[in-house]
Amino acid sequence: MFQRVPTGIPELDDVIEGGLPKAGLFLVAGTPGSGKTAFSARFLYEGIIKGDRGIYVSFAEGRDAFFSETARSGLDFAKADEAGMFLYMDLLTVKNEGIPAVTQSIVDAVLDFKASRLVIDSFSAMAQAVPELIEARSILHTILGKIIRQAECTTLLISEVPVGTSRLGLGIEEFVADGVLKFTQKEIDGRVIRNLVILKLRGTKIGRREHMFTLDGGFRMLSPFDSSQANNGHSYPVIKNTASHSSTGINGLDTILGGGLKRGSHILLEVGEDVSSTSLMSFLTPIISNTVKSGDQVICIPVNGMYPEELQETLRKSVPEGPASMQVFDITGRGGPNTVDLGGATVLQPFDMFWKTAKKLRKPENRLLSIIGFDALEARYAKDLPAMQGLIIETIAKVRNAGDIMISIARPFSNTLRELASASDVHLRLAQYDGVLCLLGVKPRTDYYGVSLPDKGAHAQIELVQVS
Ligand SMILES: Nc1ncnc2c1ncn2[C@@H]1O[C@H](COP(=O)(O)OP(=O)(O)OP(=O)(O)O)[C@@H](O)[C@H]1O
Ligand SMILES: [Mg+2]
Repeated sequence: MFQRVPTGIPELDDVIEGGLPKAGLFLVAGTPGSGKTAFSARFLYEGIIKGDRGIYVSFAEGRDAFFSETARSGLDFAKADEAGMFLYMDLLTVKNEGIPAVTQSIVDAVLDFKASRLVIDSFSAMAQAVPELIEARSILHTILGKIIRQAECTTLLISEVPVGTSRLGLGIEEFVADGVLKFTQKEIDGRVIRNLVILKLRGTKIGRREHMFTLDGGFRMLSPFDSSQANNGHSYPVIKNTASHSSTGINGLDTILGGGLKRGSHILLEVGEDVSSTSLMSFLTPIISNTVKSGDQVICIPVNGMYPEELQETLRKSVPEGPASMQVFDITGRGGPNTVDLGGATVLQPFDMFWKTAKKLRKPENRLLSIIGFDALEARYAKDLPAMQGLIIETIAKVRNAGDIMISIARPFSNTLRELASASDVHLRLAQYDGVLCLLGVKPRTDYYGVSLPDKGAHAQIELVQVS
């Protein structure tokens, strides 16, 4: 119905029918530092690439600051300026000349320059320079009439939202606008996560309203975790181990961990309640894959809700050479032919069995990776909690002495979480925000990372995208 103007953010265009409706007015509202300029600059730059002239009108930021800040994200506005595709209107000091005159100069610039895209940073600053609301309304109508209707120029109107308020603007622009994009920053565990909410967009069926994004390396939106993409037999490239560390098969994770999984260490992976076993599995698969393909062995007690056959099926697809170097246990009593039943009257039997099997599987010159779903053990042996806490300490001591590696998995409400955390060399947390699977390091402390799965069929790693 509407002609679409791509925003330059493919993940956003995908959920808004290809882009913003052409010749519309869109409010870009957000708190200080929320990424309004970064988004708007990306929008203009996309136009320039596609042959649309663009103008950035600024009441807030000088020309040099804009050029150098955007250049850091790889947007070469200086070149676009030389090529006559871009115009930066620095109106920092002209506000005193009267806003109606300033508005007219913007209209003239759009018409003279034949701009198809315009950003006004910000409407809040223009409105502040006029004493009455009615005048702000009249500026808005000039923009609408002359720029949007007459010049058919797609316009982003930036609105500065003070921290702690729920208002988007003056209460006029959000109603007049064809679309409202709200940029926010929320603090989770002391880290800032950015998100974009599509509040309205005329003539558009919106796929998903809330989107996490990052400014690291330029404006980039993160895709939500897609279970159809996960565990589909993806083959992960092998990363070499070092003398002291086993690789996780994920470069970004190795870096966070100071080189990978250290021999003789215990890693606690705390998995949020909202993270499904499918998401968890897709995060563990490259780790298991890399271990097996490097010639080491893996033993695993699946987490609650993950059945041994399901786990084996996933691994069979991604790591066909796996079965000989891997043992999956079953504590649910319904395991398939290739599992070892870890049932028993008390929690002592499973641990005993676990170590016996480990001994058989492990080759002396190799290292053993054990992945233990403590939530599943807890669910099965709830009454043996004190014994289990003792076993945790003992198990971790064994792992350290043997130079092996253990990943224990617990949920935030697990009774064993405290013991596991205090006996951990590394403590990671997996959670899901805006549908995006996120990882953060509690020990060592890190920012939030979005877990980005490789495209179907690509022989590539999982990528960690810094989001905070
Ligand atoms: N390419 C980048 N890489 C990393 N950080 C960036 C990048 N671009 C911007 N930032 C950070 O994000 C912050 C906010 O970006 P931006 O200037 O787009 O926000 P804004 O909403 O326009 O802020 P303001 O309200 O101050 O105008 C910047 O101050 C900077 O610290
Ligand atoms: Mg800005």
